[in-house]
Amino acid sequence: MLNFSKQYEYYKQMTEEYLLDVIRKNKKNDSYYSALTDAVEYSLMAGGKRIRPVMLLAACEMAGGTPDHALPFAAAIEMIHSSSLIHDDLPAMDDDDLRRGKLTNYKVFGEVTVILAGDAQLVLPFEIMAAAAVTAKDVSAMLILAKHAGIHGMFGGQQIDLAYEGKQADEKVIVQLNRLKTGALFRAAVCAGIAVGSGTEEQILAGDQYGENIGLAFQLVDDLLDNDPNANTGKTKGSDLKQNKSTYLSVYGEKKSRQLIQTCTAQAEQALRKTFGEKADFLVALAGQLQSRNQ
Ligand code: IPE
Ligand code: IPE
Ligand code: MG
Ligand code: MG
Ligand code: MG
Repeated sequence: MLNFSKQYEYYKQMTEEYLLDVIRKNKKNDSYYSALTDAVEYSLMAGGKRIRPVMLLAACEMAGGTPDHALPFAAAIEMIHSSSLIHDDLPAMDDDDLRRGKLTNYKVFGEVTVILAGDAQLVLPFEIMAAAAVTAKDVSAMLILAKHAGIHGMFGGQQIDLAYEGKQADEKVIVQLNRLKTGALFRAAVCAGIAVGSGTEEQILAGDQYGENIGLAFQLVDDLLDNDPNANTGKTKGSDLKQNKSTYLSVYGEKKSRQLIQTCTAQAEQALRKTFGEKADFLVALAGQLQSRNQ
């Protein structure tokens, strides 16, 4: 019988221990650039929910692999995510002061260090994965992460997000925006996890459908929480309105957004169940938790 919270904590804790170890190994106290490692540490240890690494580890186990083998890949995706957030908060992007209930990275370390700390968290993951890769499937997982983070993935989505500030976005734009800026890393988490677990192409395809739908639902919830006075996000409320963002909420309104969250979540669950049966229990439960999250 699945104990969801216990399993989540187990994956989360092993990711955090690994990340701490990476930070420790990269600290050189006699260097003139220690602010850079301090900024990386600040963002990696600020208390994120760790959803993407947890997803990657669970996907690996679901496909028959071990979490230990997937751990460098899980830490890698959390670093890429962390990089996206510290850049996202910069004045030139979303100009936010609060993240996870703490001052944003640039408020503490300044813009220059944060730009470099974001770059570092994009390169370090590939160093870690290259050092850990032993099978061809591991190399394909690296490729999955690179593609989904890059131009035709999260970067592309962030580009659309910023280009459409203050402009009227239609449904087609908003779907592509969110598929890329948020959906891409969720797809990467599940597909890379299944790959390092030696899953088949068909299994990776099912994971991709799950990741895509979870990503859309996740951003729909994020947009609703941004405007919700009762939400516990640790971020400044009303940031999207202040920046004149084109969001799901601004295009669809609240009622349709809530319906879409349910539809996407159900589609995500079905995609995994069909291919993995009861081995999908944890990721199906995670989908349910994410749709009603408050943080
Ligand atoms: C926030 O992601 C950025 C979005 C894609 C909306 P999370 O809500 O997963 O952020 P943390 O890591 O838990 O703070
Ligand atoms: C960010 O979307 C997605 C990223 C790639 C970082 P948001 O700008 O809505 O994320 P938050 O609300 O700042 O976490
Ligand atoms: Mg943003
Ligand atoms: Mg933002
Ligand atoms: Mg947001």
